[in-house]
Amino acid sequence: MPAAGPWTSEIPAAHISVGELMAFFGRKQIPAAADPSARDFAVVLHGVTKLYGVGAAAVKAVANVDLRVPNGEFLSIMGPSGCGKSTLLNLIAGLDDASSGRVVVAGYDLARLSDDARSDLRLQRIGFVFQGFNLFPSFTVEENVAWPLEFLGCRWYLARERAGTMLNQVGVTPGSWRRRPAELSGGEQQRVAIARALVTEPQLLLADEPTGNLDSHTGQAILDLLRRLNTERGVTIVMVTHNTFAATYGHRTIELRDGLITHETPSNRREPGSVRVLPLRGGGE
Ligand SMILES: Nc1ncnc2c1ncn2[C@@H]1O[C@H](COP(=O)(O)OP(=O)(O)O)[C@@H](O)[C@H]1O
Ligand SMILES: [Mg+2]
Repeated sequence: MPAAGPWTSEIPAAHISVGELMAFFGRKQIPAAADPSARDFAVVLHGVTKLYGVGAAAVKAVANVDLRVPNGEFLSIMGPSGCGKSTLLNLIAGLDDASSGRVVVAGYDLARLSDDARSDLRLQRIGFVFQGFNLFPSFTVEENVAWPLEFLGCRWYLARERAGTMLNQVGVTPGSWRRRPAELSGGEQQRVAIARALVTEPQLLLADEPTGNLDSHTGQAILDLLRRLNTERGVTIVMVTHNTFAATYGHRTIELRDGLITHETPSNRREPGSVRVLPLRGGGE
């Protein structure tokens, strides 16, 4: 397994940004949100509760959680199996609805968005790395990474070109691009999943146990990749893990028990401005 791929000099630059591509093909980018929290916070949860089921059989997967994730933070979420970590991440991604409380992402109150607007927000602003990779088995590696762009209206050949750039950046070499996911190692599949999550240039990356299915060496390479995304690109990261070593990659760790935040470490994040934010254009400097 090669080390995490280089971000910079060897990578062929993509010539045009996703925003420019979308404008070119007539797809409207979602406007900046009016909510003033958007300037400072990628995610704000106000008293968020999620119940599954009804009546006496209801399970409170997330219980009255308040959380603020500043732009540029790398946050780790820990806790035992079943404590509500995945539910919390799904609520932030708008993949699931809160039973009560408010979920505000990039300044948008998710409950106030139409289904279409929510899909647009997810496609354009949020990258999601699922616990089990969630790659399409019948698609090639390249197709798995390129489809979100095609969904956004990009021409296929441009989507493929950008997918290739992204795959290079996360260390998946061209020899693998025509393969199906089942022909790759777990580490490679996770890199492909990360490339897919990043291909639309999201400002927020949500990762559900991204190292959970990987050996420790490969897991560390993936963590290094996430750290570089955060420090070099300014991507806000919320990572769920049950591995204490993995959690140390975050600036701050919160712990969940039975849907409640029970513990939080102080943030060691440096002030904004000390982080150099590069445009996600293919890595040319
Ligand atoms: N779709 C669902 N329907 C019913 N219960 C669910 C559903 N998803 C999760 N749960 C329950 O909610 C709780 C939290 O689950 P989850 O968020 O997956 O935990 P974690 O990711 O921390 O392991 C668990 O008790 C789980 O059984
Ligand atoms: Mg989970």
